[in-house]
Amino acid sequence: MLFIFLSESSIASSIGVYGKYGMVSSRSALASNVGIDIMRAGGNAVDSAVATAFALAVTYPSAGNIGGGGFALVRLPNGNVVSLDHREKAPKTAHRNMYLDSEHNVINKLSTQSHLAAGVPGSVDGLLLLLETYGSMSRTQVISPALKLARNGFPLSYDLAQQFTTVLGKMKLYPASLEKFSKDGEPYIVGEIWRQPDLAKTLKIIMNKGRPGFYEGSVASLIVQEMERNNGSISASDLADYRSVWRTPVTGSYRGYEIWGMGPPSSGGILVIQMLNMLEPFDLESMGYGSSASIHHMVEAKRRAYADRAEYLGDPDYYPVPIGMLLDKDYARQRFADFDVASASSSENIDPGIWFKESPETTHFSVIDNKGTMVSFTTTLNSSYGNKIVVPGTGILLNNEMNDFSIKKDTPNQYQLIGREANAIEPGKRMLSSMSPTIVTKDGNPFLITGSQGGSRIITTVLQVIINVIDHGMQLGDAVTLPRIHHQWLPDQIIHDKYAISSDTRNRLSALGHKNIVESKSGIGDANSILVRGKAIFGVKDPRAEGAAVGY
Ligand code: GLY
Repeated sequence: MLFIFLSESSIASSIGVYGKYGMVSSRSALASNVGIDIMRAGGNAVDSAVATAFALAVTYPSAGNIGGGGFALVRLPNGNVVSLDHREKAPKTAHRNMYLDSEHNVINKLSTQSHLAAGVPGSVDGLLLLLETYGSMSRTQVISPALKLARNGFPLSYDLAQQFTTVLGKMKLYPASLEKFSKDGEPYIVGEIWRQPDLAKTLKIIMNKGRPGFYEGSVASLIVQEMERNNGSISASDLADYRSVWRTPVTGSYRGYEIWGMGPPSSGGILVIQMLNMLEPFDLESMGYGSSASIHHMVEAKRRAYADRAEYLGDPDYYPVPIGMLLDKDYARQRFADFDVASASSSENIDPGIWFKESPETTHFSVIDNKGTMVSFTTTLNSSYGNKIVVPGTGILLNNEMNDFSIKKDTPNQYQLIGREANAIEPGKRMLSSMSPTIVTKDGNPFLITGSQGGSRIITTVLQVIINVIDHGMQLGDAVTLPRIHHQWLPDQIIHDKYAISSDTRNRLSALGHKNIVESKSGIGDANSILVRGKAIFGVKDPRAEGAAVGY
């Protein structure tokens, strides 16, 4: 893998870059450059991450947002790792059967494409709290780059122009959405300057007033009025009461490395560690990347971990998630005890485990500075462009995160994930996520920052980046680029990137009993990652999508 070596000027590549002082790898080159400019101006990785996240809300509106939520995992210079949950919450009037008709059937699209699909947004609260707690710069310093991009505009890339054209059909009921994403209903074309004056106004209010600029006052009123006009449920008090939560990160070890992840209400950290625990006793390195043996082992670990997800994972403020049990290496061994090296199991026969010893579109970016502050940050509106609804006068696109709840027991959501009691809808509860911002350290020192987009595929993407680096000894570019596979218990199928499974390997997997092996229509994951080796920082932008790693 070719790494471009430059240390004096900002550099960007879709493959990999080297940096000496700091690195930002994100889905948008403009946003990555914002993050690096902040560090050049003396900001730390947290200042940089907050500025990058606000910039992504402008330059990558499919998932970057101020109307959604996310998770931040931060390793501080002293080695402590903290995590901030700014996931959306169910509005206070939400209830278990709100997306079901009188016969208890799921009402089509109500949880994905309606005002009722939106959870109470957490991004602004989370970003400002991160800045106040661990940043060193002012709101003006970190928000003004995003504000300028929104006000002055930027030339639309091919990727964004295509996305807008595709999504317009779903926005036709919403005039403010059409106004934002088209020229009077006509699609923008690549290279045209795209400006977002309403969003610029909103960002300015947030910049001047802080948290109340979003959760109270004129912006909040416009959100509530939009809800009241359209049978939505987010109220003024839902907004005023929203607070992010500092949560204890989940942690584990793998072959001498320390793994740090986001705990519930994300399932990501737990599942990554659980699968690594199941796989640790096996010599994946000698099996070789892409072999039927290594795919078989990983699929069987994924099958079991996702079965546990459906049963046990939800908002820990509402459900007693057995975190200790799920992270325990003994539990993993017991859970994997029925693994047969010569034969695939069937998801029908895999129930969630019981310990006898006593959950497409999202975006991830990684940031590191020269003090060893590492930020692993994943944010989302859930579906691409959320529920497609722009709140008139604000430029804010709303999320459709309510679909991440289990809206009916054992009924698949848009990622085909099922859920049960732990993730049932309750007022004020946070919906279960698959977002997996991850940090890996070695003897307490910075090693790897990774994470991904991709709904349920996020978790298995992260798993494979870690295994590629640690087990297969790959350089970061290869670890992120090479084709991936995915399995999530139900539906019982192996989904794979193009070229991930040769015909030989497919035959061997079929002989083991893996019946459904399906090529994914789109790339699996978008893992914008950073690796540290000695004093060198390597940044990689996943080539499955646009964006850039930028270092200096
Ligand atoms: N909305 C995708 C996730 O949180 O996993």
